[in-house]
Amino acid sequence: MTSSDCRPQGLTSVSNRPAWRPRPDLWTLDPAVLHLNHGSWGAVPRAAQEAAARLRAESEANPAAWFRALPDRVAAARRRLAAWVGADEAGFALVPNVSAGVTVALTAVDVPPGGRIVVTSHCYGAVRFAAERFARLRGATVVEVPVPLTASPDEVVALLAPAVSGASVVLVDQVTSATATVFPVARLIELCRSAGVPVIVDGAHGPGLVPLPVPEGADFWAGNFHKWACAPRGTAGLVVAPRWRSRTMPLVVSWSEQASLPERFDWQATADYVPWLAAGAALDMLDELDWPAARAAVSAMLADGADEVANAAGGEVPELAAPAATMRLVALPPSVRVEDKAAEEALRRRIAREAGAEVNVTVHAGQAFLRLSAHAYNGPGDYELLAARLPVLF
Ligand SMILES: Cc1ncc(COP(=O)(O)O)c(C=O)c1O
Repeated sequence: MTSSDCRPQGLTSVSNRPAWRPRPDLWTLDPAVLHLNHGSWGAVPRAAQEAAARLRAESEANPAAWFRALPDRVAAARRRLAAWVGADEAGFALVPNVSAGVTVALTAVDVPPGGRIVVTSHCYGAVRFAAERFARLRGATVVEVPVPLTASPDEVVALLAPAVSGASVVLVDQVTSATATVFPVARLIELCRSAGVPVIVDGAHGPGLVPLPVPEGADFWAGNFHKWACAPRGTAGLVVAPRWRSRTMPLVVSWSEQASLPERFDWQATADYVPWLAAGAALDMLDELDWPAARAAVSAMLADGADEVANAAGGEVPELAAPAATMRLVALPPSVRVEDKAAEEALRRRIAREAGAEVNVTVHAGQAFLRLSAHAYNGPGDYELLAARLPVLF
């Protein structure tokens, strides 16, 4: 049986919430699989794949002409992406991903020997590695502030306040990865500003998930367009506050070295610029879907779906202060032990094999979760099917 066999075809509403008509036709996803992990790698819609294929064919028809025309086209793509997230174009640079954006930001800030880089216990693993590498290079330390899963915005601010005071830089998530929570970023920026400490916002999930994702007053914000905005992978933006622009440099030293930001990020040597140029096709698709309204309906569907999956798995949906619109956690029962990264991956693979579902498995403070995603291609039937198949596993 495939997921499409059971996927409801028309408008479907499990509760009184707005009904959502899924649009898998806009993607090329394998209908035999339940695709419930958009949050990890995104999924590129058909229109953006086709735009990328056309651009790639054009580049191979005449590579010299392609590279000659590239600067203007990259600049146009950059402006479109900046406008889509409401960013100040003059401070919006293209980077391949948030890992690169955060690394760039860490190279720009002053972290003296003995300094402190502050992160929370929700920090994405690879971003934390970046903080640790910079701490090692500068003779500084990384200070992790534990934040409980269900902390309220007031509690998050109160927990961070003592660590922020006197820190060299603070790294905060806009939407956390393992815990699918929207952090009170505006309040944390205010806290850092009043302490005179620069703040880097990891906005990996921001574009397409958070309305107006670029927060006022952040020193740096990095966001992926290849997650919720569905751009081809390798498309991300780094927004830099005016006071940091002259000293913020790309990781790759190339011909644009002497240009100023954002142009000096446009040219990263001989590379594949197709994803940046094709990203607009994904934004067009979301605009045509009226994505903000669609996202609200998808979000309501996901909330119902997560309850169903939790019941089936013998788990529960934790009461988060601000769950991410398009990701939900299902806490697994204590009998399911996920001790390390290898066990996380083993469980993901088992769910893929035995339930035919792509679902993320995360761990926070020793508790294991299924992290369920929803995008416009998902329908309520996806969660019903997962719920029907899970009891065999747990
Ligand atoms: C919160 C968060 N930060 C950073 C990243 C890293 O994104 P990328 O691999 O595109 O650099 C992710 C990826 O899932 C994430 O969830």
